[in-house]
Amino acid sequence: MDLNAQWAAAWMRDAAAAMAENRQRLIDLDRAIGDADHGENMDRGFSAIVEKLDADGVPATPSEVFKLAAMTLMSKVGGAAGPLYGTAFLRGSTAVAGKEGLGAEDVVAFLTAARDGIVSRGKAEPGDKTMVDAFTPAVEAAQTAASAEASGAETLSAAANAAEAGLAGTEPLIARKGRASYLGERSAGHLDPGAASTTLILQAAASAAGEKA
Ligand SMILES: Nc1ncnc2c1ncn2[C@@H]1O[C@H](COP(=O)(O)OP(=O)(O)OP(=O)(O)O)[C@@H](O)[C@H]1O
Ligand SMILES: [Mg+2]
Repeated sequence: MDLNAQWAAAWMRDAAAAMAENRQRLIDLDRAIGDADHGENMDRGFSAIVEKLDADGVPATPSEVFKLAAMTLMSKVGGAAGPLYGTAFLRGSTAVAGKEGLGAEDVVAFLTAARDGIVSRGKAEPGDKTMVDAFTPAVEAAQTAASAEASGAETLSAAANAAEAGLAGTEPLIARKGRASYLGERSAGHLDPGAASTTLILQAAASAAGEKA
């Protein structure tokens, strides 16, 4: 599938389905090292995006879909994740503004801007046991794929696979940002819930583009 506005809308729908399906898993991950609300937060946010697309129709460009997603996540999702993902989609939206279809380099630009937005808002570094530990390898894998002439869809798939590996890598880490950091060493031995939701979001991007994720 071309990475056009219809794809961006399908991405949001697939992500909403993934959040609904994984709601309990994300709650359980957040119960272990946080306050057990991440599944509820993400499910509420993405279903609100789908409601908005259903009510207003799909905008003309992926950038506008991402802007709608950003505004909705910022207004509907409290806690740490809403503003972080809202900033990610807003910065990503700006990075691909005006384009009707995205190529591999646009995917890289989107993901890089989204990750940089999360970092500038939350100040987490790789290794702090946050969503950045899934997002950063995803950006790097997307860059590598795009330089090797992968399609936009293949670039998304590479990003999603790297995010999943990054998620697995959060397990031994000690949290240094967010609520989980209050646990200190007791945060080790658990996957980070935000890295899990980032993986679901990027897998949805690839699957909406027709790539196995
Ligand atoms: N400063 C940060 N930078 C990047 N990601 C962060 C940061 N703080 C928290 N996170 C991510 O947010 C996830 C938790 O999201 P969640 O929706 O549960 O918010 P929360 O921490 O419960 O918010 P609050 O503490 O305000 O209730 C963590 O698993 C982590 O990945
Ligand atoms: Mg929480």
